[in-house]
Amino acid sequence: MKAHTSIKYQLIGPFRQVVTLSEVEVKGPVKDTQLGIIEEGGILINGEAIHSIGKFSDLLKTAKSLQAEITPLSGDYIAVPGYVDAHTHICFGGSRANDYAMRNAGATYLEIAASGGGIWDTVTETRKALPQDLIRGINQRLNTLLDSGITTVEVKSGYGLSVEEELKMLRSIKSANSTAVQDLVPTCLAAHILPKDYDGNHAAYLHEISERLFPVLKEENLADRIDAFVEEGAYSEAVITPYFTKAREMGFGITVHADQFSVGGTAVAVKHKAISADHLEASTHKEIDLLAKSNVIATALPGASIGLGCPFTPARKLLDAGCGVAIASDWNPGSAPMGDLMIQASVLATYEKLSNAEVLAGITSRAAAALGLSDRGKLTANSLADFNIYQTDHVFEVLYHQGMMKPTQVWKNGKQVHNKEDKTQEI
Ligand code: NIG
Ligand code: FE
Repeated sequence: MKAHTSIKYQLIGPFRQVVTLSEVEVKGPVKDTQLGIIEEGGILINGEAIHSIGKFSDLLKTAKSLQAEITPLSGDYIAVPGYVDAHTHICFGGSRANDYAMRNAGATYLEIAASGGGIWDTVTETRKALPQDLIRGINQRLNTLLDSGITTVEVKSGYGLSVEEELKMLRSIKSANSTAVQDLVPTCLAAHILPKDYDGNHAAYLHEISERLFPVLKEENLADRIDAFVEEGAYSEAVITPYFTKAREMGFGITVHADQFSVGGTAVAVKHKAISADHLEASTHKEIDLLAKSNVIATALPGASIGLGCPFTPARKLLDAGCGVAIASDWNPGSAPMGDLMIQASVLATYEKLSNAEVLAGITSRAAAALGLSDRGKLTANSLADFNIYQTDHVFEVLYHQGMMKPTQVWKNGKQVHNKEDKTQEI
């Protein structure tokens, strides 16, 4: 079981900067002056949550009256909210190094898929894996993510593609979540591609999934979210409509792999009131307008653009149109094998001209919004005490190093869960 801290007050600081993001809205452009920085600030923790944020000298008085444990810092440290990776596929078997080589030798992602490789190859390897193998793989990847300060991780199924194999994946994700440092948010992506061994068409497969898998997801509390890959060669609007309608009737949240290579997914996401539409590399002004008029978060996945050598999601245009833009890694063995959200988000920023505040919001508060979570992503009273401490005097240094500067400490639910300095000593 996950360790829960008993109610306990702790004060940490002073930080040169506590980057709160407290005033950042869910939608639209954000200037660096809106980062909500408190200089010489502190974080007062109450159990798993934040009691208050403010000037360290002010918090000291409250801390003393609450008999809080005080962790003094001396030197240059800053604090930022724990990062949220709102789109990953880190539960899988096998490797697709071969696909990567084929793509770089000239074959396209869709050609490789059509010739039997691609996602289907990972399905074959994931089906061969035992639950403990899948759990081990998730845990290894979670450790890597923790090094970068990622404290909440969405994890999709979608490499099982039968009722039983999707259950194996989602039960493995649930099991990993029970011991993980991070919070995992599971999503059912049974509508990834049509499994090659399925004796029937897309509509029949989706009908079977919704009839036989959805009720078990509810019974065993395996996922609250349903995703689909809406794309040529995957699922069309026509077949996905009854599937999403059923999912919403049953109380699931919707998210969509939308407009990755061709448009169509955004319209589906807006129509079904999805929480997020992810990818959007092929979106035009029409899709951008649709998203801007909706409450659907637009999630950019620069790791897939880097992995495939494709254009980036038009994040600047999305923000300027008034959309809420989250940034996630899409970590998966095919299109996004790198899995380093900070490198990807920093690179997206240089190409798309995003402010530091837009990038940080994209991997904190807006990423939380993409998962329907309002209890994290900002350093404000009552938010979860999830934060990263960097050894620097200014938050701009973090993105400037394009992912190479790692947090010195990571705190999750009011507990220090990672300390780079300790690690260095162990080596
Ligand atoms: O988000 N586009 C569809 N699905 C994943 C890729 C999965 C894979 O290639 O294994 C994505 O890019
Ligand atoms: Fe994906």
